[in-house]
Amino acid sequence: MSLKFPKDFYWGAATSSHQIEGNTHNDWSEWEQSLKRRQELINQGKDPAKFISGRNSDSYANNNANIVCLLDLGANAYRWSLEWSRIEPRPGDFQEDVLEHYKDFCKKLRAHGIEPVVTIWHWTNPVWLRDVGDWSSPRVVKYFARFVKKVAEYLDEEVNIWITINEPLVFSSFSYLHGSWPPQRQNWFAYMRVLRHLRQAHIQAYKILKKINSYNQIGIASHNIYFEAHNNLFFNRFIKKLADWWWNDRFLKQIDAHQDFIGLNYYFHSLVNFLPGTATYYERYSDMGWGLYPEGIYHVLKDLKKYSKPIYITEAGLADKSDTHRRWYLQELLKNIHKAMLVGVDVRGFFYWSLIDNFEWANGYDPCFGLYEVNYQTLERISRSSAKFYRDIIQTNQLLLDDE
Ligand code: BGC
Repeated sequence: MSLKFPKDFYWGAATSSHQIEGNTHNDWSEWEQSLKRRQELINQGKDPAKFISGRNSDSYANNNANIVCLLDLGANAYRWSLEWSRIEPRPGDFQEDVLEHYKDFCKKLRAHGIEPVVTIWHWTNPVWLRDVGDWSSPRVVKYFARFVKKVAEYLDEEVNIWITINEPLVFSSFSYLHGSWPPQRQNWFAYMRVLRHLRQAHIQAYKILKKINSYNQIGIASHNIYFEAHNNLFFNRFIKKLADWWWNDRFLKQIDAHQDFIGLNYYFHSLVNFLPGTATYYERYSDMGWGLYPEGIYHVLKDLKKYSKPIYITEAGLADKSDTHRRWYLQELLKNIHKAMLVGVDVRGFFYWSLIDNFEWANGYDPCFGLYEVNYQTLERISRSSAKFYRDIIQTNQLLLDDE
């Protein structure tokens, strides 16, 4: 049996600047090197060296190496992000050479038939932003808008599909509520302010991008979870509704009039149960201990149908160094995406996370999400066998299934 995808479907993979570029100087790189962070890691018995992004895969200097991977896959789209701290290292001091570098990259991609899908902000900030007040300050919205205007004008001819911000809920929760990411705050009021500013920043960015070019297609990447009510019990259904409202829908609804598509990042299933003590078991787990539940993407997609917008799966993937589960996971994800399309969900593309191994934020270099492994000594990209599996799907535009 084979599952066919539409002719103009976007097949690609995703990355973000800080996670692959190397030698970035932003609020994250400063945090990675801070004494407090090192101490925290040593106390946890970890080697701090594995938690410093450093040279990384040197992808800023050598983006050709990543284009080679995209060509190997036969991808026709690539989601990647701009590094604000490189473009504007001091307030208002925009670096033409950096803008030119990103523009060239877009041109190269397009010359190879690969559509650039550009994330404007994937969590990292110039260090000066922290000093003028970080995302809990309303001033950030103004600075973000100025940055967006600059890049949107510069890349206007090369980019049509824009993702303004990545996962507002995840960023604000980890950085301002749990306090595990920079600036490590644990303050409900700051958290709520950050969410408000991210929303305002997106809406301003949307207006700026549309004004510059009405053809621009703009959305955010939203990290939605499949909340399932255990045994469909009334109280569990109630909690599920609450969780859906807060985590999956609230932000998307607030920006509904200012988005042309929805970017979906899917990683998790969560069995909602008000009775304590019932653990959820999965047949397979990623290297990060995340339970793998590819069916969940079907439910999340079906739920997004109510927005009546095109959807790009802007991220889905797993950490799997030995490549044991990736092929299966990809296949199951795609089966479920196809199933959602059959019931009318307008999915336009799929971006596997991630193209290459990268710096997994507070988890450092151990988790390997890449279709291509990176040898951090030689900087070589090495294809995992799941990359070949994905390539076959892309090249035939269909998923072949063994008869079940
Ligand atoms: C983020 C990525 C991250 C991935 C895996 C997503 O929430 O957008 O930056 O690497 O999850 O944790």
